[in-house]
Amino acid sequence: MTDGGASARLLMCEPDHYEVRYEINPWMSIKRPADRRRAQSQWSALREALQAAGAQIELVEPVAGLPDLVFTANAGMVLGSRVVMSNFRYPERQPEEAVFRRWFEAAGYLVEVLPDRLAFEGEGDAFLVGDTLFAAYRFRSDVQGHHLLAEIAGTEAVSLELTDPRFYHLDTCFCPLDGDTALYYPGAFDDHGRRAMANEIATLIAVPEAEALRFACNAVVLGDAVFLQQGCPETSRLLSDRGFQPHAVDLSEFLKAGGSAKCLALFLERPGG
Ligand code: ARG
Repeated sequence: MTDGGASARLLMCEPDHYEVRYEINPWMSIKRPADRRRAQSQWSALREALQAAGAQIELVEPVAGLPDLVFTANAGMVLGSRVVMSNFRYPERQPEEAVFRRWFEAAGYLVEVLPDRLAFEGEGDAFLVGDTLFAAYRFRSDVQGHHLLAEIAGTEAVSLELTDPRFYHLDTCFCPLDGDTALYYPGAFDDHGRRAMANEIATLIAVPEAEALRFACNAVVLGDAVFLQQGCPETSRLLSDRGFQPHAVDLSEFLKAGGSAKCLALFLERPGG
């Protein structure tokens, strides 16, 4: 196994104020509250697993009244020493922008912003795979921002429309594993999107619907190690068949807010650069 986590640096946020207190995606129901204690132990187990794989974890302070701040993947998109900040779609999450911005400024990042009117939810909706930026739009990010993102990143952008509100962020249905392999859930895209992905990525591994609905694609990849939601045996087998090591983590309390492993971590540095 390659020690893929060795040079990875991730931003996370402890779930001290995590709860389901509004509904901005189909998974959230204020009638299905999260158990804070259990969320804390699930989050700690994820953090420890990522650290054990060699990743360095940075923390942003939790803030009372901002329950979704734990989903740091939505802070922005990091490009080396620069970061493109998110413009959250929903007012419920917009106060997070200032919190994340302060963290990045204090950490010495050069902060870039998109025009206010363009929604963008960071690494939740945009992945760099080699020299290509895969960016999704519709539910949380606006397609009009993609060319600006590509310009800032100095890459080509492949815009993908998300078609199913249950898969409202790109990281809920697409997970690059290495330069030419990715997990994805075909049902979350249209024909154009599926074709565009197939043109760019040599091996696309389709995750079965039942496991996509358990957020199988929402995995943190550190080299060969893939940290994904527990209860995804078929996805785990598909990963093992291709030489990856699946590590199951139980993040059931976070599924109640529409997130799993990947949503809880933002890449500051990727393994190997
Ligand atoms: N409740 C959060 C929201 O709806 C969950 C965010 C999940 N994050 C992610 N990167 N998919 O905004």
